[in-house]
Amino acid sequence: MQMSNLAIGFLASAIYAQNTTTAPLFNVTAIATVNNASRLQCWTLPSPPRTAAGALSYDIGSSENNFIGILPPRTYKDKTITHPPVVQFTIALTGLIHIQTPYSGLPDSLNEAWVQGGKYGFLIAADTVVSGSVKGHVTEFPSDEPTWLIELPVVGNEAPIHSVVHDGPCGIGDLVGV
Ligand SMILES: *[C@@H]1O[C@H](CO)[C@@H](O)[C@H](O)[C@H]1NC(C)=O
Ligand SMILES: *[C@@H]1O[C@H](CO)[C@@H](O)[C@H](O)[C@H]1NC(C)=O
Ligand SMILES: *[C@@H]1O[C@H](CO)[C@@H](O)[C@H](O)[C@H]1NC(C)=O
Repeated sequence: MQMSNLAIGFLASAIYAQNTTTAPLFNVTAIATVNNASRLQCWTLPSPPRTAAGALSYDIGSSENNFIGILPPRTYKDKTITHPPVVQFTIALTGLIHIQTPYSGLPDSLNEAWVQGGKYGFLIAADTVVSGSVKGHVTEFPSDEPTWLIELPVVGNEAPIHSVVHDGPCGIGDLVGV
């Protein structure tokens, strides 16, 4: 019994030694800086997905000074332009984030994102003042419930390596692959 378990374990580790997976790469809606202005983009993070302990896992790098933000229901900012203090991932657990980038120079249809709390509630804000963004973005939280956010400031305050899938936020078609 012990032996056959060992054998199966050995066989499995031989087959899965590479931890290979055909899962697609992870995409995230980004607020980027292009031409000294904030714009929405859909980014692909190039780290290869891995399988470990039965989970599909995507490396998103290191963060520091992480915190949780809770916005009251119907938080409107009267079109106030803001920048993130540092490059940070944001994960919305509940509620709704409405982002606008009115100074991107792109058509209006590419300047608005609605991000619901949940598994597709993943964003990165990289349009810091230091990155050169003069005209930032507008963020509101129009939900009737509070919006809960996990904020993960990126170590080094630099946008992670990425490729741009397209301008404008990721659509559902950019996210449903996993
Ligand atoms: C496969 O995943 C396990 C668990 O995360 C890890 O210990 C091992 O180093 C990985 N193997 C390869 C070849 O990446
Ligand atoms: C525009 O962005 C560059 C970096 O990409 C920065 O060096 C420059 O200071 C920015 N211009 C203004 C007016 O902020
Ligand atoms: C991310 O975008 C790429 C390129 O469009 C696509 O092939 C992939 O399926 C997307 N990933 C997910 C998880 O949907």
